[in-house]
Amino acid sequence: KGDALRFDGQVAIVTGAGGGLGKAYALLLASLGASVVVNDLGGSHSGQGSDARAADQVVAEIQKAGGKAVANYDSVEEGDKVVETALKAFGRVDILVNNAGILRDKSFARMTDADWDLVHKVHLRGTYKVVQAAWPHFVKQKYGRIINTASAVGLYGNFGQANYSAAKLGIVGFTKTLALEGQRKNILCNVIAPNAGTRMTATVMPPEMVEAFKPEYVAPLIAYLGHSSNEETGSIFEVGSGWVAKVRWQRTGGVGFPANRALTPEQVAKEWARITDFEDGRATNPASTQDSFSGFMDNFSNVVEEKEEPASDDVVANAK
Ligand code: NAI
Repeated sequence: KGDALRFDGQVAIVTGAGGGLGKAYALLLASLGASVVVNDLGGSHSGQGSDARAADQVVAEIQKAGGKAVANYDSVEEGDKVVETALKAFGRVDILVNNAGILRDKSFARMTDADWDLVHKVHLRGTYKVVQAAWPHFVKQKYGRIINTASAVGLYGNFGQANYSAAKLGIVGFTKTLALEGQRKNILCNVIAPNAGTRMTATVMPPEMVEAFKPEYVAPLIAYLGHSSNEETGSIFEVGSGWVAKVRWQRTGGVGFPANRALTPEQVAKEWARITDFEDGRATNPASTQDSFSGFMDNFSNVVEEKEEPASDDVVANAK
């Protein structure tokens, strides 16, 4: 097929590719012609131990199918070594999929510093360290595709995952800033919140769901976002079971109080219904910090005469 998305001559790094989602990404990218660095520390789902077999098996599977792959066993916390493997084996890097991850679920009251720190180290710092090592190469070649991995848990929260949700939303903010800084250099960065039956979710999903939510249903989005034809950047996608959707923020129209009067808690209380109303036709979808500022900037001119008695209609809708 003439319009097939191919990756011939390109090099992809997939972290945590020894199993689960990362393995599906590595297999798909390799089958489409990419040379793949299969990174995996090979530890337990809670981040204990290490084992080279996880990455080795995926490399063997790719090679058996006629693809090109090399293993890397370092933790993503040592991002420079992961990128070094790509450069040594294939001489370049074009696509970086930050996917490695662990869980240390506990209700917040029982969560220790170790649970918090380890999850942050692997997810947020690990993502940062691999990007940090790949970035200068992307800048130099004026080309790069980064796909980071968040989670619905980061976007919406989940009982028992305070550490994980914080790290995952951190990855969303990180991705959005990278997208801004990378755009002029054709470095495009997006973030996905996947759903798939893997060893990570096998403990919480019923077996039929683990079976139905195959990692293979997520991988095509990775290939699309990782391809040179992709122009999307700074975006969040939810993906799983063959369903792909984009996520964005929404903000109510808000309530602009007189900017030259002290605002009281009672005024906030009085307007609470309108402050939180998404359905009055004034809600917007801010997509940048500039969009965000508009809410504050627009209210600067919302002044009342000094002598005027504050009346209820001083409260001006901050409409767009
Ligand atoms: P998984 O446990 O099957 O795979 C994660 C892989 O990362 C493992 O092979 C593990 O050895 C590797 N890894 C862990 N720490 C590492 C480190 N420090 N350095 C290098 N490799 C390391 O999990 P799964 O489900 O495939 O998850 C992949 C990513 O997707 C994770 O970031 C996870 O948080 C995220 N995710 C998955 C969801 C799902 O439904 N499976 C839901 C939301 C997010």
